[in-house]
Amino acid sequence: PSQITTATFMKMKQQGKKITTLTAYDYPFARILDQAGIDSILVGDSLGMVVQGRETTLPVTMNEMLYHTAMVARACQRALVIGDMPFMSYQGALNDAVQNAGRFLKEAGASAVKLEGGADVCPVITALAKAGIPVQAHIGLTPQSVHQMGGFRVQRDEERLLKDAKDVEAAGAFSVVLEGIPSPISEKITQALKIPTIGIGAGPHCDGQVLVLHDMLGINDRFLPKFVKKYADLAAAAGKGVADYIEEVQQGRFPSDEYEYK
Ligand code: KIV
Ligand code: NA
Repeated sequence: PSQITTATFMKMKQQGKKITTLTAYDYPFARILDQAGIDSILVGDSLGMVVQGRETTLPVTMNEMLYHTAMVARACQRALVIGDMPFMSYQGALNDAVQNAGRFLKEAGASAVKLEGGADVCPVITALAKAGIPVQAHIGLTPQSVHQMGGFRVQRDEERLLKDAKDVEAAGAFSVVLEGIPSPISEKITQALKIPTIGIGAGPHCDGQVLVLHDMLGINDRFLPKFVKKYADLAAAAGKGVADYIEEVQQGRFPSDEYEYK
């Protein structure tokens, strides 16, 4: 089990310490993040877009999420590992949602799950909390509802957002992701809640921040929203390495002496 727990999250909010989160989908990256000191790793269903090359997160399956969550959990000694419940794994019967969420802990080694929605998903959050499964809620821009929202749009209905936030806290969520929300609104939400808020495109006032790893490391050439800061350009570094290799092999310069068995 990880050193960081859901209780640590609560304590960090009380002490005013920012909670750092990134996504990861495999062992080597999860290991880099864990050793760098990240507080939590979200195995996001953003998997569908940044790893599987899909247009949306909707097609991602339970089995795919479990496969990737297990790889991440194996790498983490410190970070809290959170598995993202995919579209249609918690929208049906409550018992199915509990069974699906339980698999993230029982089969994949996660310590918590995340699901999207506000007031509408409170019965699910409560059922999971009763089963001993910590839940991170996710409100504002919820990508699984892309068709209902009419695209990936910033959410500005302050009254609804505040109600959703208070409702998921009352239902038993241990934290809540605020995505695509103007800073003044997420500031109000953060002040109104006892549980920590983790922002993405939600300004500086949240209790913590999360970004999609492949966006912030510059791994894909996908459109990047305004809120993504690129901390590295791994695509360029990898492309250069591969191009150098191709050239050296074509010119007969690799393998040279030192890489050869005599
Ligand atoms: O799937 C994901 O990566 C997410 C985060 C962006 C919050 O849900
Ligand atoms: Na997600």
